[in-house]
Amino acid sequence: MCKIIEPSLLEIQNKYIETVKKWNAEYKEKHSHSRKMYCVTMGCQMNAHDSEKLKGMLLEMGYEEADNEDNADFVIYNTCCIRANAEEKVYGKLGWLKNRKRKEPELIVAICGCMTQQDTVIEKIHKTYNFVDIIFGTFNLYKLPELLVSRIESGSEVCDIWKEHGEIVEDLPTVREHKYKSSVNIMYGCNNFCTYCIVPYVRGRERSREVDDILKEIKELVSDGVKEVMLLGQNVNSYGKTLENPVSFAELLRKINEIDGLERIRFMTSHPKDLSDELIDAMRDCDKVCKYLHLPVQSGSSKILEKMNRRYTKEKYLELVDKIKAEIPDIMLSTDIIVGFPGETEEDFQETLDIIKKVKYSTAFTFIYSKRTGTPAATMEDQIPEDIVKDRFDRMLHILNPIIHEVNNSQVGKVIDVLVEEVSKHDEKIMTGRGDNNSLIHFEGSKDLIGQIIKVKIIDNKTFYLIGERI
Ligand code: SAH
Ligand code: SF4
Ligand code: F3S
Repeated sequence: MCKIIEPSLLEIQNKYIETVKKWNAEYKEKHSHSRKMYCVTMGCQMNAHDSEKLKGMLLEMGYEEADNEDNADFVIYNTCCIRANAEEKVYGKLGWLKNRKRKEPELIVAICGCMTQQDTVIEKIHKTYNFVDIIFGTFNLYKLPELLVSRIESGSEVCDIWKEHGEIVEDLPTVREHKYKSSVNIMYGCNNFCTYCIVPYVRGRERSREVDDILKEIKELVSDGVKEVMLLGQNVNSYGKTLENPVSFAELLRKINEIDGLERIRFMTSHPKDLSDELIDAMRDCDKVCKYLHLPVQSGSSKILEKMNRRYTKEKYLELVDKIKAEIPDIMLSTDIIVGFPGETEEDFQETLDIIKKVKYSTAFTFIYSKRTGTPAATMEDQIPEDIVKDRFDRMLHILNPIIHEVNNSQVGKVIDVLVEEVSKHDEKIMTGRGDNNSLIHFEGSKDLIGQIIKVKIIDNKTFYLIGERI
């Protein structure tokens, strides 16, 4: 009796990759240059990491990367829908592409990512932007080669949106944005359903990757020159709970910390409701785990936090911050804040200002509440008028920025280890890098330092970055 072995999902895609490769090789032979692709990333780090996989597959298929979207034969938009303006940007781009597609019918336009997981968006694309060639979502990103073949063979639009996730496909070809640092997905999806947030609807339920797959990937990255990894998940603190053999995030960190040659471990995002003492201990004990924690508070008002379904109070959050600061005294904290959530009164807003003053963040990502269709908050009463929200937002920055400045003053005079990242966009003699605590440092240096961890003395504080000197 012979056993039939089903090909893996990756093996199936590899066959499609070969088909496109041949198609692109024939083109190159005829035109003496390769077809070019361009991938536009519009969302968060998770979205950016997905783009690295999209680009990896496209390079495998024989495309070369174009230096901008106008020069590409294949353009792919990896979209975001966290706030309305993220979606508006995509429609703006599509509107502009309409003309180009009319002049260049050979151009292939693909759209994927979080935005396409919404029915209303698909309807709008079909109605208003019906020149789009390939539409797919967040759950079937690995199918790009198959969808492209299908588009080429059928000559018509291909739309493949899944409502739920399938199995996690490991080992997709990937191109890394940076040689010395890399993102690593440890989990996908989110189960938290914060009432303002679209992510659980477009990224599906929480699922974790196996520890061994994560460790294998990081070891390979390290042998390829990576010094710093960023572990990604919408809520890393609940990592591993649904695995067949459950593992905690703290245990995972301790295992990653043992990888030889790896120098720094970062992670995001930590939900305050799941941040355990075990994790604080692991952060304190693991020398490679950076002394930086992104801990989104969203609001300082316990009433609003409850309406947001965040499942902690202002007091619990502050207790947590005290505990973290006591165990890891030189840690820097950053946060996300939403202003103008439905029902937010001036008193609630004052509570947000109060928490900003108490915690003293080194960075904060601040957002004006954006109504997302399909989320519970979108239909809540008491949506706040725009002028009131804008006024609160400005007042918040007025309080926040001097605090960020004050927190960063504590760095002046210190010598810190900096991972050199890139040449400054404004001055080629200036290099930028990050301290262990995530502070952004500018200093005079040369390109050959990129990827090295060097000692820099901090001599000035410019609020959102620091000026240093190599020693
Ligand atoms: N999983 C992460 C957040 C991912 S989204 C976490 O829970 O922290 C990043 C940030 O976008 C959120 O923290 C929130 O501050 C902001 N955000 C999400 N939905 C939003 C909305 N509808 N309007 C404004 N900001 C929003
Ligand atoms: Fe959105 Fe909340 Fe999930 Fe973060 S934890 S992705 S804010 S639902
Ligand atoms: Fe990220 Fe935007 Fe999706 S923030 S998870 S790309 S909705």
